[in-house]
Amino acid sequence: MSRTLLPETVERYVTREIAHETDVQRRLRAETAGMPHAGMQIGADQGALLALLVRLVSARRAIEIGTFTGYSALAVASALPADGKLVCCDVSDEWTSVARRYWREAGVAERIELRLAPATETLADLLKRDGGETFDMAFIDADKSNYDAYYESCLKLVRRGGVIALDNMLWSGKVADPDVHDEDTDALRALNAKISDDRRVDACLLTVGDGVMLARKR
Ligand SMILES: C[S@@+](CC[C@H](N)C(=O)[O-])C[C@H]1O[C@@H](n2cnc3c(N)ncnc32)[C@H](O)[C@@H]1O
Repeated sequence: MSRTLLPETVERYVTREIAHETDVQRRLRAETAGMPHAGMQIGADQGALLALLVRLVSARRAIEIGTFTGYSALAVASALPADGKLVCCDVSDEWTSVARRYWREAGVAERIELRLAPATETLADLLKRDGGETFDMAFIDADKSNYDAYYESCLKLVRRGGVIALDNMLWSGKVADPDVHDEDTDALRALNAKISDDRRVDACLLTVGDGVMLARKR
């Protein structure tokens, strides 16, 4: 999976000269770089985008689906107010134990509730526990074949005016090639089409990173 569609020099400019990572973010990126599947981590520019979204919608409560070693959660939680809350959904204790270390270092661990279970289960539980329209923002970055289900759950959980961001919606450009058909590409292509016609949201597909779809609930 490619993290960006930009030429390398432009990506370096955007992620190293324009997006400012904190020392903790830099160290988390360096540790993750030595791990298998390091390419799953979002770019520094996407971290900056998520932090900006938190502030734009004055988010106090956020959901993340797909945490890995915790970079995106670190970006979101750091931008939340001190009493803000981020619920993180993942299935890997191994990867999220790295995340927990860095959240503690950054002083944001208290804002994060990590739920280790298939995200469809956690989202259903949140709906029961907290009720609908109780979150301001959601970030979807996990298994692609479930994205539509995650989107539908997040639409229930996020308030009007809140925002849902979905990563990898360009899928290395494969969604734009009508000859490419595999489960993930077909799922993401169909979801792009669905969201762009969805009257429940205002949406825009950003070409940042591997494509970030932004959907604001009407
Ligand atoms: C692309 S990575 C997330 C990257 C992360 N947002 C970051 O910034 O580093 C996808 C994550 O989704 C998790 N995942 C995969 N299937 C899942 C499922 N059914 N429920 C919850 N998490 C899942 C994986 O364990 C993995 O950590």
